[in-house]
Amino acid sequence: MSEKATITIGDKSYQMPMKHGTEGPSTIDISSLYKESGCFTYDAGFLSTASCESSITYIDGEEGILRYRGYDIDTLAEKCTFLDVSYLLIYGELPTPEQQAWFNRTITYHTMVHEQLQFLFRGFPRRSHPMAVMVGSVGALSAFYHDSLDIYAEDERELAIFRMIGKIPTLGAMTYKYAIGQPFMYPNNELSYAGNFLHMMFANPCEKYKVNPVVERAIDKLFILHADHEQNASTSTVRLAGSSGANPFACLAAGVASLWGPAHGGANEAVLNMLEEIGHKSRIPEFIKRAKDKDDPFRLMGFGHRVYKNFDPRASVLRKTCREVLESLGIKDEPLLDIAMELERIALEDEYFVDRKLYPNVDFYSGIIYRALGIPTNMFTVMFAIARTAGWVAQWKEMIEDPKQKIGRPRQLYTGANARSFPTSYKEVA
Ligand code: CMC
Repeated sequence: MSEKATITIGDKSYQMPMKHGTEGPSTIDISSLYKESGCFTYDAGFLSTASCESSITYIDGEEGILRYRGYDIDTLAEKCTFLDVSYLLIYGELPTPEQQAWFNRTITYHTMVHEQLQFLFRGFPRRSHPMAVMVGSVGALSAFYHDSLDIYAEDERELAIFRMIGKIPTLGAMTYKYAIGQPFMYPNNELSYAGNFLHMMFANPCEKYKVNPVVERAIDKLFILHADHEQNASTSTVRLAGSSGANPFACLAAGVASLWGPAHGGANEAVLNMLEEIGHKSRIPEFIKRAKDKDDPFRLMGFGHRVYKNFDPRASVLRKTCREVLESLGIKDEPLLDIAMELERIALEDEYFVDRKLYPNVDFYSGIIYRALGIPTNMFTVMFAIARTAGWVAQWKEMIEDPKQKIGRPRQLYTGANARSFPTSYKEVA
C-alpha cells in the first residue's frame, strides 16, 4: 500500500497520498483536501509548498547543492559553454558533438530581431531603465510570430524556444545602445553566444572591436551559473502565466518583470548601488547596524537566500572567478571590491548574520564581476534575464508537455468585509 499522510481537522481525518521525488523532501499531495474537507491550505510565500513536479534542477539548500539535470553546477561552469547547458536544461542530456554543432548553429541563426522592433525601442525615453525596455520588447516579440505560436505543436514550441534564447541577448544589447545613443549593432554569427553579446554591446560601426577572451569566458560562466534555479519567483511566474496557454514570449516578459524586483534578480544592481552608498570601509559598521535594525527597511543586498541556508554554491564559484577575472584584467585598486570583501568578512563573523545563515549569495559577487567586465550597473539584471531565459524556456516546455498540467489557480484566505447592504445614501452618477 502506498504511504499516506493523515490530516486531522476537528474529529475527522483525511488520508493524503505521499509523493517521493528522486531526491529532496517528500511531499503530501493535498489536491483532494478541499473536495474532501472543505478546507484550503495556507502557505503565503510557498514556504512549504511544491507547485509542480520537475526533473530539471535540484537544490539542497542545507547542503549548498545546485544541480542541473543531475550535474553539479561547478562542474558545468568549468567544463561547458552556456549553450551546452541550455541544451541540457531543455533536452535533459548533454549534447553530443553533432547535437552541439546543430544547437549552436540553430541558436545563432535566430539572433537577429525583426527590423521593425527598432521603432518600438524609439518610443521609449532614452533614460528608461533597461529592464523596463526588456519587459516591453520581449513581450513585443509575440507580435512578430503570431502565425507560429501553437504551443501544442512540438515544432512551433521548439522554434519559439530557439527564438527566445537567440534573440534575448540582442534585445539586451539594444537596450544599452539605445540608452547611450549609439547605433544598434547587428549580431555577428561568427562569434560565440557570449562573444556576440559583447560585440553587440561594445562594438560600433566606426571602429574594430575585438572580444577579450577572458571577458567572454567570464560572461559565459556567469550565464551558466544563472541559467536555472528551479521554482524561483520569475520561473514560477513564467509557469503560472504559461499555464493559461498564453504564448511563450508573453510568458517570458512576465518572467522578466518578476526578475526585476530587488529581492530577486534586481539584487545584483542593488549590491553595487549599496557598495557605492557605503563609499568607504569605515562606514560598513553603520550599514551593518542598519541591516540588523527591525525598524529600518534596509537589508544588506547580496546576503541571504530563501533556499540556501548554507553557502550559495553559485557564490562559491563566483568568489573564485571574481578574483581570477580581476587578476587577468589587471584590476588592482578597486575601492568597491575592498568594501565588498570587508563586508563579506564582517557579515560572515557577525552573530546576526551567522545565526540567520545569511551568507553572500550569487548576486553579491556577480555585480562586482560585471562591473570589472565593463557592464554598466543598470544592465546587471538584464544579464541575469539573458541567462535565466534558458531556464525559463526549459521549465515552460516541461510544463506544457506535462499531461497533468492545469491552469494555475491559487485560492485565498478571505479577510475582507462580510456581505453588507448597499448604502441608501450613495449618490449615483447620472
Ligand atoms: N539583510 C539583513 N537581514 C536579512 C537579510 C539581509 N539581506 N535577509 C534576511 N534577513 C533577516 C530577516 O530580517 C529575518 O530576520 P528575523 O528572523 O529576525 O525576522 C531573517 O533574516 C529571515 O529573513 P526572511 O525575509 O524571512 O527570508 P526570506 O527567505 O523571505 O528572504 C531574501 C530571502 C533573499 C529575499 C532575503 O534574504 C533578502 O532580501 N536578501 C537581500 C536581497 C538579495 O540579495 N536577493 C538576491 C537573492 S539571490 C538571487 C536570486 O535567486 O534571485
